Amino acid sequence: MFGKIKKRFGGILALLAFVVAAPVFADDPPPSPEALVKIRAANGECLKCHSEAGLKAPPKEGMDLKKLREHLVHLDTFTASDHGQMACSKCHGDGYDEHPHAAKAREGISECQDCHARKAMRIERQFDKSVHAENLSDTFTCATCHDPHVMAVATKLRDPHKIVAQDNKICLDCHDSDIAFAKMAPDKKKRPPIDDIHDWLPNTRLHWKAVRCVECHTPTEDKLSLSHEIQNKDKAEKKCASCHTANSSLNARLYRHLQTEEQNKYGFINSVILSNSYVVGATRNPSLDLILIVLFVATVVGVIGHGLVRIITTRLRRSKNHD
Ligand code: HEC
Ligand code: HEC
Ligand code: HEC
Ligand code: HEC
Ligand code: HEC
Ligand code: HEC
Ligand code: HEC
Repeated sequence: MFGKIKKRFGGILALLAFVVAAPVFADDPPPSPEALVKIRAANGECLKCHSEAGLKAPPKEGMDLKKLREHLVHLDTFTASDHGQMACSKCHGDGYDEHPHAAKAREGISECQDCHARKAMRIERQFDKSVHAENLSDTFTCATCHDPHVMAVATKLRDPHKIVAQDNKICLDCHDSDIAFAKMAPDKKKRPPIDDIHDWLPNTRLHWKAVRCVECHTPTEDKLSLSHEIQNKDKAEKKCASCHTANSSLNARLYRHLQTEEQNKYGFINSVILSNSYVVGATRNPSLDLILIVLFVATVVGVIGHGLVRIITTRLRRSKNHD
């Protein structure tokens, strides 16, 4: 039936497709099962070298194995990623079927914009305003954060813990490593230790496992997707209540792709909102601890006071009965 429509309105459809999808190849339908078999076979050719197995038993002699070791692609990770159904050759064009690869092959690697024109336009506008784009050299690009063989979008990962782990790894790999940071930073700029910067945040490392850096470092206006504008540090979120309350901004961001039932399943409501989490001593926040200690003391005094009053009134009643 689609074939018939296509025959009759082919021209219009093609035009429509062009207008709607422009050159966004990412909007192409996913490959058929048969096509996928071919893609996997072709990718297998690259992985004959670019895998642990290839490194152990190189299919060719005289290769630079030290370099190859730095260039492995893990098949399972790749398959689970956003680009897992694509042929390597879609992004790695001419020159990569030669061995050793052509010197100019690297220049031909496709960029995000080539296939994600529409999205890239929105995101580039935000990225251009980010601290990284403004303060660092042009070598800080989309690919600095996005490993196209690894990354998977939030809607695909679903489990907030997986999303947090993936997205924070990007920032921590650089902000928690002197070597990686120095490669990107302006001359003489020392890396501020990530724990020291955030020492006002209790259980800092636990927060890295439960919330994303971008939750506090990007504006919230964009309701549908994450903003790529990593802001200056004075604009960063510092209010505990933006997360530790019902209808928090965290709810609107990290959990936006989940239904309410699912949020419950992943324990969000229980662990963060109905925060039993706030236990004295579990925090390293003096003022919070003080408030909690005051509350605790008040409760203890209340309980003891209540008990004392009861003991006294019972005594009084008993002595009255004796009379
Ligand atoms: C016969 C082994 C072999 C095969 C097959 C192979 N490569 Fe490589 N590749 C290497 C080695 C060795 C290096 C590291 C030395 C170097 O940089 O040239 C490398 C480096 C690379 C690099 C990083 C260097 C650069 O130019 O950016 C990329 C990207 C790459 N290969 C992509 C591919 C792709 C895509 C395929 C499949 C179309 C593929 N390779 C197939 C051996 C192979
Ligand atoms: C969606 C596009 C895309 C696909 C699909 C893709 N790659 Fe890449 N690949 C890239 C980009 C972009 C880079 C360069 C990253 C950078 O600048 O550091 C790269 C870099 C590499 C490198 C060098 C790694 C490094 O650390 O510098 C290797 C090796 C490689 N790709 C192999 C593969 C193989 C094998 C496949 C298929 C299984 C594949 N790629 C599929 C976009 C892609
Ligand atoms: C050669 C074309 C091509 C290139 C280059 C490319 N992609 Fe993709 N991308 C695709 C295709 C095809 C899909 C699969 C679409 C789907 O499954 O819905 C995809 C899916 C995605 C997705 C998940 C779906 C979505 O749009 O949210 C993200 C995120 C993504 N790509 C980001 C990137 C980034 C970042 C880069 C650059 C590092 C990049 N892509 C480079 C073709 C490409
Ligand atoms: C500072 C690191 C960083 C840089 C630079 C970066 N991204 Fe992202 N990007 C992320 C993170 C983190 C996510 C969140 C993943 C999610 O929520 O699915 C993301 C999500 C995305 C998504 C999927 C969600 C969406 O909004 O559609 C696309 C597409 C994307 N980025 C493209 C790009 C492009 C294009 C560039 C370059 C102009 C770029 N990114 C630069 C970190 C970065
Ligand atoms: C490859 C390295 C690299 C990655 C990846 C990276 N950054 Fe940065 N970032 C830097 C460098 C270098 C600076 C210092 C820029 C300067 O001094 O002006 C910086 C600065 C910052 C600042 C400080 C801005 C200010 O006001 O001083 C924040 C906040 C920040 N990054 C957050 C993030 C977040 C969040 C991510 C992950 C989504 C991330 N960065 C990923 C290298 C990186
Ligand atoms: C709960 C919110 C929150 C989270 C989560 C968070 N930050 Fe921050 N971050 C802040 C605030 C607020 C500041 C400003 C602190 C100040 O100026 O005293 C800051 C400052 C920074 C700075 C500036 C350092 C400097 O002084 O130059 C960097 C870089 C940074 N954060 C990176 C990260 C990274 C990377 C992550 C994830 C591992 C992260 N942040 C997670 C709130 C957060
Ligand atoms: C961006 C969101 C966000 C902000 C801002 C934030 N938190 Fe959290 N916090 C979380 C999440 C998510 C958890 C993890 C809950 C869990 O999984 O048990 C957490 C955990 C905690 C815990 C540990 C609970 C435990 O189980 O040990 C404490 C204490 C805490 N937060 C206090 C604070 C304080 C105090 C502030 C303000 C200075 C703050 N948080 C700011 C999101 C946030």
